[in-house]
Amino acid sequence: MTNNPTITELSHEDRTFPPPEEFAANANATAEEYDKAAADRIGYWEEQAKRITWDTPFDTVLDWSDKPNAQWYVGGKLNAAYNCVDRHVENGLGDRVAYYFEGESGDTRTITYSDLLREVSKAANALTELGVKTGDRVAIYMPMIPETVFAMLACARLGAPHTVIFGGFSASAIADRVKDCGVEFVITSDGGYRKGKPSGLKSVVDEAMVDCPEVRNVLVVRRTGQDVDWKEGRDLWWHDVVDRQSETHTPEAFDSEHPLYIMYSSGTTGKPKGILHTTGGYLVGTSFTHWTVFDIKPESDVYWTAADIGWVTGHSYIVYGPLANATTSVLYEGTPDTPHRGRWWEIVEKYKVSILYCAPTAIRSFMKWGRDIPAKFDLSSLRLLGSVGEPINPEAWMWYREHIGGGRCPVVDTWWQTENGSILISPLPGVTSTKPGSAMRPLPGIVADVFDDEGRSVEPGNGGYLVIKEPWPSMLRTLWGDEERFEKTYWSQYPEVYFAGDGAKIDRDGDFWVLGRVDDVLNVSGHRMSTAEIESALVAHPKVAEAAVVGARDEMTGQAIEAFVILRESAADGGDDVVSELRSHVRSSIGPIATPRSIMLVPDLPKTRSGKIMRRLLKDVAENREVGDVTTLADSSVMDLIQKGIAES
Ligand code: PRX
Repeated sequence: MTNNPTITELSHEDRTFPPPEEFAANANATAEEYDKAAADRIGYWEEQAKRITWDTPFDTVLDWSDKPNAQWYVGGKLNAAYNCVDRHVENGLGDRVAYYFEGESGDTRTITYSDLLREVSKAANALTELGVKTGDRVAIYMPMIPETVFAMLACARLGAPHTVIFGGFSASAIADRVKDCGVEFVITSDGGYRKGKPSGLKSVVDEAMVDCPEVRNVLVVRRTGQDVDWKEGRDLWWHDVVDRQSETHTPEAFDSEHPLYIMYSSGTTGKPKGILHTTGGYLVGTSFTHWTVFDIKPESDVYWTAADIGWVTGHSYIVYGPLANATTSVLYEGTPDTPHRGRWWEIVEKYKVSILYCAPTAIRSFMKWGRDIPAKFDLSSLRLLGSVGEPINPEAWMWYREHIGGGRCPVVDTWWQTENGSILISPLPGVTSTKPGSAMRPLPGIVADVFDDEGRSVEPGNGGYLVIKEPWPSMLRTLWGDEERFEKTYWSQYPEVYFAGDGAKIDRDGDFWVLGRVDDVLNVSGHRMSTAEIESALVAHPKVAEAAVVGARDEMTGQAIEAFVILRESAADGGDDVVSELRSHVRSSIGPIATPRSIMLVPDLPKTRSGKIMRRLLKDVAENREVGDVTTLADSSVMDLIQKGIAES
């Protein structure tokens, strides 16, 4: 077991917000769902599978005989892209808008379901022409543009699992992922717009490809028009290859357990984990939760997940969930403050967004910028607000409710993880009376609990480790190429129970409060990173002898990265230059999101007699607290030295 959960003492939250009557009267979800699922969980999941069109019906809902390897909807066959696109067109919804695309620089595109079918079919034909076959992995490193969705769905159509790499990751992060899952085909773009400037993406891929000779082709979408280097024979323009393809393509049905995608996420060691999601269960999980938690009324809602497709939130709630439910979504390329701090609210007003889903870190930025900014826009179209990615502090929750939701919109704080595939703990709008800061209850069909060290459920009012006691359809199936790590990470703490790695508390009403990671995983602005990953990057620098990284509390980003570094003797007294050199080194080895907030040069690190770094003590320093118990340190004077050094610097 890892560190004890950091249970911040929560006084009981007495503010509750019952669902508005009108909302409750028309809500997709009802309170009976909980009873139905509790009475017959497997039957409930069988029922939910009807949201999907199966080419061949499944014969068994769940096969859990080879624990922890679950198989859902066994014997069923389906095509994910068909479910997201073709069937809606066949049902007469071809003219419905799938996406309102808003480029950061103000360019727009409206893509109907018929348009989507055409574009995805052409892309699938192009991939086939280029030799991509069922089972081949395809890496996608793109900005937030419609072609990213076309590329993902084209892969799904062919049964070629995609691995989307967040556009902020560095060349070496791309190379690691490409090599880990044996990618031979990469889709990217010349760049995207970020903070008013074109960013380079193809150039980063080029750098990564130096290390990836097995990649045959790089297909490049022209977005910014900037100059790019070109490797003849390997690089191809999307418009040259895709535009000339036939607009029809017949999708093939794949086994329910056929891999749909791999999404890399940080774990407790340096190497990111390739989290594998398969087709049937994932699609059921995303469409069910999107329907129930977001109360989707596809004929009238305009839905907006303001996240990046490069993270699981984008996969499940920009692409697969909304499309499976024939929803109209907004797809926004850029940042919330470009060209001005009201950009999101301008978009809400322009497209009459009715449901908004975003991360607490964004809400905290808006709070800092002031309520006057959203007040200038007409936000009356909003009817539901969602939060994801990190604990939402009650002040941010209240601000979101009041200043964005006008006091009338239910707020759903949704807890889940890349591994979960879809939301597991959340209020049901129209049913649940919410409390600011609580994700409230496991969804119908989800059996979550909070365990103590011995695997016993904690009493109400107590904290422990968040676990899921029964399998669920959209759960990860394994870690790509590393079944052992899959079993060890999630299934070894408690037998046959999924260990989420989060600390949680159940209050005296039985509601869940997720408190954050209990392992060496950081959560910066809702993005997961491991201390080990950043430490490895630092230690790879020739001037660094040793490094320790901790996550310190940060008002805006939730946690911030604080690094403690011992320099090699040859580099000692390097001063500020070394610090900025190391910060940019981490930036270029992992990506800007991993840049430490500060780097403290220290003479030594606190270690136990067995040599384990005591990050808890460094966290005390980083959070400006009195340093805790040092008796287990091999050398108890180390902390004095560190603090003295910091005070003098
Ligand atoms: O610590 C939890 C936090 O984010 C982690 C999962 O990160 P990731 O796999 O990147 O997925 C993020 C988006 C689904 C969790 O282990 N987390 C996510 N949502 C919440 C949360 N913590 C508290 N409350 C949430 N609503």
